[in-house]
Amino acid sequence: MRRSAGSYITTTTLGEAVNAFVPYALPPSDPALLVESYEIQSRTAEIALARLSGVSGLVPSVDWLLYSAIRKEALLTSQIEGTQATLTDLFDEEAGLAVSNTDDIEEVTNYMRAFRLVRDNLRDPNGLPISVRLMCNAHRLLLNGVRGIGEQPGELRRSQNWIGGTRPGNAVFVPPPADQVANLLADLERFIHAQPILGGSSYLPSLVNIALVHAQFETIHPFLDGNGRIGRLLIAALMEDWGLLPEPLMYLSGYLKQHQSEYYRLLSGIRTEGNWEAWVEFFLEGVTVAAVNAERSIVEIATLVAADRRRLLDSAKSGSATYRLFELLPMMPRFTVERVRKELETSFPTANAAVRTLEDLGIVSEMTGQKKNRSFSYQSYIELLAK
Ligand SMILES: Nc1ncnc2c1ncn2[C@@H]1O[C@H](COP(=O)(O)OP(=O)(O)OP(=O)(O)O)[C@@H](O)[C@H]1O
Ligand SMILES: [Mg+2]
Repeated sequence: MRRSAGSYITTTTLGEAVNAFVPYALPPSDPALLVESYEIQSRTAEIALARLSGVSGLVPSVDWLLYSAIRKEALLTSQIEGTQATLTDLFDEEAGLAVSNTDDIEEVTNYMRAFRLVRDNLRDPNGLPISVRLMCNAHRLLLNGVRGIGEQPGELRRSQNWIGGTRPGNAVFVPPPADQVANLLADLERFIHAQPILGGSSYLPSLVNIALVHAQFETIHPFLDGNGRIGRLLIAALMEDWGLLPEPLMYLSGYLKQHQSEYYRLLSGIRTEGNWEAWVEFFLEGVTVAAVNAERSIVEIATLVAADRRRLLDSAKSGSATYRLFELLPMMPRFTVERVRKELETSFPTANAAVRTLEDLGIVSEMTGQKKNRSFSYQSYIELLAK
């Protein structure tokens, strides 16, 4: 045991006595976080993030990159929860095409709404800062709909919960009693707001603080459901709010999903062994890997789109609608002719001709093989994103 990260309180739940864990306020102390666990790794991660910020200049609009990055994060964080939706499902739904697993897609789009709400607030001078209230508002959107019924969307839990096991008595982990949640979150909020902006006199690097905040949030487990997703949303929000990454171009949930059992094991290790260090190292490694992956993916997207644009420009026969359609593709990779007509505000024949030209050039392809209800796909791009 490196240190004690909290204390146990015996409470009675469902008729049996259980030991609920109540974490100490951040940062880790007795002893303080070992410098060796983060000094070099946090610098490496910051460099990876700085490179990622710069590489977005390779494409004409950062919105292209955000379009896919935000969807990937939404998808992957929901997949950790067990959602089965795919990136293509999401694009199909946006194209107005029929999709089968609507509940799964709702979960993903709910995450995107929650994330947008948080970003909008943080960017608005009159909006809420990162706070318990903002997290509750995000939670309300996240659990909106069929699956959230009974999970008290937008509200802190009023009952004891547990992780793993069929009842609190045989659980892997029993989070703090419900009546302590508000106080513990207030402490966490204070810790977040005590962080000076980047370059200030904080003794821990911002990325390390984000690692601490996420783990503490999961330990408090303030909601009946959705704690993983809101906790991961908090990571993305803090990265942007603290200026580590000007736009949410990274999808850390890919790394967390790939190393899911280690992710959970290290969260437990904080409680059982006071091992904050192993979690912080894992988190910093994850940020580095995720940033490098996002950078590579942006380079690949930029290369593909540039090559296809070259092909279009080299072909003599294109009309203006075709060029305009092409520039829409990165944010509209699945579409019908009708959608193109609407987006380009043009006639059906013109939209149809533009689609046909891109099809002839091998840039987009028809997916149904039918004469009616045709749908098209910028397939090479989708395959790149789904990798
Ligand atoms: N042993 C553990 N100790 C602390 N936190 C844990 C532990 N195991 C898992 N967690 C956290 O709890 C989350 C699951 O909680 P919950 O079901 O409320 O969230 P969710 O968003 O609905 O689900 P999910 O994680 O499955 O996305 C995990 O994602 C992880 O962040
Ligand atoms: Mg859950």
